Amino acid sequence: EKDGYDWFMRKEIFEQPKAISDTLLGRYSPQGELTLDEIHISPETLRRVNKIIILGCGTAHYAGMVAKYAIEHWVRIPCEVELASEFRYRDPIVDSQTLCVAISQSGETADTLQAIRHAREQGAKVIAICNTNGSTIPRESDAVIYTYAGPEIGVASTKGFTTQLIACYLLGLYLAQVRGMKFGDEIRTIMDELEAMPAKMQSVLDHADQIYTLAKGMEDEEDFIFIGRHVGYPIALEGALKLKEIAYLHAEGFAAGELKHGPIAIINPGMPVFAVVPPQGRDQLHDKVVSNIQEVRARGARTIAVAEQDDNEVDQFAEVVISLPKVSTLLQPVLAVVPLQLFACEIATLLGNDVDQPRNLAKSVTVE
Ligand code: M6R
Repeated sequence: EKDGYDWFMRKEIFEQPKAISDTLLGRYSPQGELTLDEIHISPETLRRVNKIIILGCGTAHYAGMVAKYAIEHWVRIPCEVELASEFRYRDPIVDSQTLCVAISQSGETADTLQAIRHAREQGAKVIAICNTNGSTIPRESDAVIYTYAGPEIGVASTKGFTTQLIACYLLGLYLAQVRGMKFGDEIRTIMDELEAMPAKMQSVLDHADQIYTLAKGMEDEEDFIFIGRHVGYPIALEGALKLKEIAYLHAEGFAAGELKHGPIAIINPGMPVFAVVPPQGRDQLHDKVVSNIQEVRARGARTIAVAEQDDNEVDQFAEVVISLPKVSTLLQPVLAVVPLQLFACEIATLLGNDVDQPRNLAKSVTVE
């Protein structure tokens, strides 16, 4: 049932192009309209929303962090992202104009479930983004956007994550449409880009060998650093989480701009630093990350950049460049996470760990 793969995780990484196209299927009409049938919240209610709170744990929380950038940019509603386990213990400000978005692959995570119960008690509407039909979180939500990743067996979430990103983009565009934003052409452009995503992701997967070669010899490293800015920041956190979970190695993700506020002090000569580099030339973000790469390199770090193909600056400063097909900045996480998933899977394999069932972890965390 692993289809010739050594691990479910690796199989699931390679299933992502299909998982993404299945998640997009039937949600955008040829007339250019988004149809999310599972949103049983009236357009009037959605138009009254004045705050969005995104809730999730672990990888799902990182998907929420990416969603904040996209939704605030497209919909212009303030959006908070919070760890579900923290939410109800801080007396959050929630009312009937608040929309909560609960992201959960399993639909059974106790922290997330308790958080949405609390939100609904305060009168908020809740939309679940979930991969498991009929699970508890969608049943206790006002609406649900299902991801169609298929069963995810590896404890480390991979296709669960990228399909959550897709669902978050769809939700953002849907809210923009419902709220009548002057946005029609832009929605079409973004949908076209999303529809091209499975093929682009396939081309990243076709170069998996480059990542495997990179991983060889690195399994003896003890510390790994991941940096990124903007939507690359949650991807840095996700890259680090994957390594912690299955390779049991110390890995940390930082917002690249924070390095000089402390973390750069831990850089030792030879320490691997992965940088998620935004597309070149569209804003200042790219150049900022390239300078961060220079800064860590000057301290002797081994720099590995995940960057857009034909980026003609990054290769001057990064020792290794992993190329991604061109996409807009907000959508880049869908592609940028893939090499980091492959890297963690390969390191854990080289270490002889049980990749699918890492120690101390369960696939669904049904206790708070
Ligand atoms: O099923 P959920 O999406 O609610 O799970 C949330 C987290 O427990 C989960 O993402 C966890 O962090 C994964 N093991 C990450 O790979």
